[in-house]
Amino acid sequence: MEVAVEVRDLKKSFGAVEALRGVSLSVERGTVLGLLGPNGAGKTTVIKVLTTLLRPDSGSVFIEGCDVLADPAKVRHLIGLAGQSAAIQEELTGRENLEIMGRLYHLNKSSSQTRAQELLERFDLVEAGDRPSKTYSGGMQRRLDLAASLVGRPSVLFLDEPTTGLDPRARIGMWGVIRDLVEEGTTLLLTTQYLEEADVLADQIVVIDQGRVIATGTSGQLKDRVGGDVLEFTVVDPNRLEDAKRAVIDLSMTEPILDPKSAKVSVGVGQYGTNALANAVRNLDSVGVEVEGLSLHRPSLDDVFLAITGHAASGANEDGAITRGRKGRRSTSKSRNEVVND
Ligand SMILES: Nc1ncnc2c1ncn2[C@@H]1O[C@H](COP(=O)(O)OP(=O)(O)OP(=O)(O)O)[C@@H](O)[C@H]1O
Ligand SMILES: [Mg+2]
Repeated sequence: MEVAVEVRDLKKSFGAVEALRGVSLSVERGTVLGLLGPNGAGKTTVIKVLTTLLRPDSGSVFIEGCDVLADPAKVRHLIGLAGQSAAIQEELTGRENLEIMGRLYHLNKSSSQTRAQELLERFDLVEAGDRPSKTYSGGMQRRLDLAASLVGRPSVLFLDEPTTGLDPRARIGMWGVIRDLVEEGTTLLLTTQYLEEADVLADQIVVIDQGRVIATGTSGQLKDRVGGDVLEFTVVDPNRLEDAKRAVIDLSMTEPILDPKSAKVSVGVGQYGTNALANAVRNLDSVGVEVEGLSLHRPSLDDVFLAITGHAASGANEDGAITRGRKGRRSTSKSRNEVVND
């Protein structure tokens, strides 16, 4: 497999904020890399460096063998970007937006028109194509933005949170569109905050937190890390936390994670979730441990963080300060699958 994107030890600070502290990753040609991380992790900063919009303090980036830092103009011909905030001009129609993009790519007038029509058809925007794009729904604006990123027929496409803010139906529609692109051979690097989305779309996942890669692997490997489906509950009497742990330990694929502060227990129960749920109720009941909020869910980004780092995902709040959820929680979970960069 040939490598389409190669990133080595990228560092970038904004004043005192170390947004990237040495990020390395690579994307094989024709595959999808999902860059997964919470707010403020550094996802957009990575995308900006890779798409020539931001110069890193150090590190190197090659796209299709081209040195992004030495020859940004050449790289711009190879790539497409749909950024986190839409780049469309709202007062223009969808068609006009696409035509202008065509002219920016040095297509002549008639080629720009043809390409705009093709893309409107492809993204189901023909009917809306001739009204101002500010009248579009969020999902339509996202599709138009993606269409605009494809005008130049890029071989490597960057999508920064392509489905954030979309309702479940629009999100699934967008997944279909993205999958089609990949089938046509486009190499894709997309960012997301949802493990579920990376699961559906990505061949490889890189998890970043506070400017560092904390895990790399397939979605299956990350889920194994969590221990499969996650059973969670709160123990009513925090003094019974250890009793609760003993009651569910046989059900778990990994060591149960306890949070003394919130009296929460979280257990990876593999693929037999519903069975585990019934057994948990029975076991807890038989030792007389009262619990509330018992639930079972598919592993999320937060569960991955918990399993890997022992704490929930941190996020930068509005004034830029880093906050942590479920502080002090320690994980003793063991991975059964090799996931690098731990
Ligand atoms: N131009 C800038 N000036 C100062 N700080 C910045 C700038 N751009 C990014 N940062 C900071 O760098 C860190 C990483 O930001 P980045 O936008 O890359 O995160 P992200 O993973 O894309 O987050 P989100 O999920 O919220 O989009 C944050 O702490 C952010 O506040
Ligand atoms: Mg971002």
